[in-house]
Amino acid sequence: MKVLITGCAGFIGSHLSEYCLSQGHEVVGIDNFDSFYSSLQKKSNLSFSLKNSRFAFFEGDITDINTLVKLPEGIEAVIHLAAKAGVRPSIINPLTYTHTNITGTLTVLEWMRQRKINKMVFGSSSSVYGNNKKVPFSETDLVDFPISPYAFTKKACELLNHTYHHLHGLDIINLRFFTVYGPRQRPDLAIRKFVELISSGKPIQLFGDGSTARDYTYIDDIRDGIYNALNYTVSNKNVFETFNIGNSHPVKLIELVNCIGNTLNKKPIITYTSMQPGDVDITFANIEKAKIILNYNPSTLLNDGIRNFVNWFKNDAIIE
Ligand SMILES: NC(=O)c1ccc[n+]([C@@H]2O[C@H](COP(=O)([O-])OP(=O)(O)OC[C@H]3O[C@@H](n4cnc5c(N)ncnc54)[C@H](O)[C@@H]3O)[C@@H](O)[C@H]2O)c1
Repeated sequence: MKVLITGCAGFIGSHLSEYCLSQGHEVVGIDNFDSFYSSLQKKSNLSFSLKNSRFAFFEGDITDINTLVKLPEGIEAVIHLAAKAGVRPSIINPLTYTHTNITGTLTVLEWMRQRKINKMVFGSSSSVYGNNKKVPFSETDLVDFPISPYAFTKKACELLNHTYHHLHGLDIINLRFFTVYGPRQRPDLAIRKFVELISSGKPIQLFGDGSTARDYTYIDDIRDGIYNALNYTVSNKNVFETFNIGNSHPVKLIELVNCIGNTLNKKPIITYTSMQPGDVDITFANIEKAKIILNYNPSTLLNDGIRNFVNWFKNDAIIE
């Protein structure tokens, strides 16, 4: 199959590109090396895929339909991951988030309609659950109360996807990822910051008292969830589904910090400060639906995932 991966130079997109290539598919990748973090890191993320003759890379912006129309013919499915990610920066720059995430998704959908490509997997986020008090979070829970512009854009995209499913028959799966970590993780995310500071003996700042919890999900598990969802849309008709893709084992912030300290063999120096606007208390995925329908079975233990991340950080991360 020939699949388009948007955001192919990013953390998740670069892993997906490599995996789809390893499974024998042709991959067309698009990325604009958005300035949110180092383009050197993104170019390095792409280096493995670029060696494969079944990979075609296009540097360009998904919000520009004139760029999308130049993509090669024969694309059968889209894994749409390009976005402005991150909760806190979305509070500072909401307009860039609505433009890239909502206009960008609408442009991709419109291009798909024109090209008659009708299979898509979309990278949504656990942030749509806001400060949901009921745990674990289920796909049937009401997600009408976003608490950041980023979360709002992801919910808006899920609704846009439904609109295109209803009007134009596109088969679409929304996957709500829960805090993804592992090699190539975005530098704005806590794990990378903590590893960088703790390994150099510097203090780290915890927002809250350390009791907030996240359902950290290792990149290989996320990748398998996306790949299984791709196969599901391709082999079924009239698909519109939303799935949680998490680990279903929330870890407290202080436990994460201790795990990183143990892996680095360093004692973390911690200062505590108040929670940030847009932060939620807990994320916790109910993954029963994905287990049953997508055969999704996350298996990476936090200790193993953190060790893999630390190895990558020490040997391959681009630190500017
Ligand atoms: N990492 C997580 O924990 C997490 C959690 C939930 C959802 N997600 C979603 O998964 C997707 C991938 O996240 P990630 O962590 O890999 O982020 P990332 O920032 O590493 O990857 C996103 C990629 O999209 C590209 N991009 C941004 N705007 C673009 C545009 N207009 N045109 C073309 N390319 C553009 C960026 O350059 C980047 O390479 C995003 O949609 C994100 O919202 C990620």
